[in-house]
Amino acid sequence: RSYKRQMMCRRDIDNLSVPFLAIYESLIPPQEEKLKQKQLLALLEKLVCKEWPMARLYLYGSCANSFGVSKSDIDVCLAIQEADMDKSKIIMKLADILQSDNLQNVQALTRARVPIVKLMDPVTGISCDICINNLLAVVNTKLLRDYAHIDARLRQLAFIIKHWAKSRGVNETYHGTLSSYAYVLMCIHFLQQRQPAILPCLQGMKTTYSVTVDNVDCAFFDQVEKLGEFGRHNKESIAHLVWGFFYYWAYCHDYANSVISVRTGSTISKRDKDWTRRVGNDRHLICIEDPFETSHDLGRVVDKHSIKVLREEFERAADIMQFDPNPCNKLFEPY
Ligand code: CTP
Ligand code: MG
Repeated sequence: RSYKRQMMCRRDIDNLSVPFLAIYESLIPPQEEKLKQKQLLALLEKLVCKEWPMARLYLYGSCANSFGVSKSDIDVCLAIQEADMDKSKIIMKLADILQSDNLQNVQALTRARVPIVKLMDPVTGISCDICINNLLAVVNTKLLRDYAHIDARLRQLAFIIKHWAKSRGVNETYHGTLSSYAYVLMCIHFLQQRQPAILPCLQGMKTTYSVTVDNVDCAFFDQVEKLGEFGRHNKESIAHLVWGFFYYWAYCHDYANSVISVRTGSTISKRDKDWTRRVGNDRHLICIEDPFETSHDLGRVVDKHSIKVLREEFERAADIMQFDPNPCNKLFEPY
């Protein structure tokens, strides 16, 4: 490992940006798909407001944070104040309301960790998950979207990393690997760390946006259009950053002691968070602090077996980026 750690990036790396950008472009959802998503949201809003005029629907997740690839499902949050109704009752009633219209496969999943209604719209062909009052997710969606507007390389990198993670089977939280949300935070952290930095730390700047959700104060600088071209002093190409991302997670990150923290724009120590030992099912083998729910480690799903799988995948990818004359083929090879 120490041998590899000293190695420099290959000389021809920048030439590889062409195929990587082609992959990125091919994953961008076409405008008509975005329109269909809006259409479905409008239909859902109409149905929900008939029953609950005060309720609101918000898009969150990849369809709203700008990290969604083509043909993704959409994530919707129903914001509702029904003091005398618990979440599973609301879910059941919501499923009832939606069932009666032309939507297909409406299912109420009341026992899931996050209870949801799942459905498919036959007109647009879009599938959708609706959760209740998960407003922190709506706020973190805005944070991610604001970061994406600062430098185009974030969206490019995140698309490529998500595509890699799906191809390699390491984007499955129920198998102990990481969520798409975690991968995007890893990309943001990585670009905050570059020298010179490609992204700033929005939560460390003057507050221009603030809300309190579930007793969590969420505050950050959101006037990103005023940042000019923040990352302009860093000229690293997308291929260089893909290589650097894998190299960082394969050989540079200190898994034993460090927590990555987009909130602080840096790493913090596991000891400071008391994430040094296993508590219940949380093993903290790779630590990714949620930017707002700071007691949440997004790596908590990772176990003894899957940490090995993950790290081997990072090393495999770093080595392909280092040595393979044609890295795109092998990098995204189905596992
Ligand atoms: N989320 C969260 N905390 C988590 C996981 C997810 O708050 N531990 C929220 C985030 O707002 C995230 C959204 O749920 O954007 C959806 O999560 P996920 O499915 O991981 O990401 P998507 O961006 O929707 O990715 P995909 O394209 O794979 O659906
Ligand atoms: Mg999603």
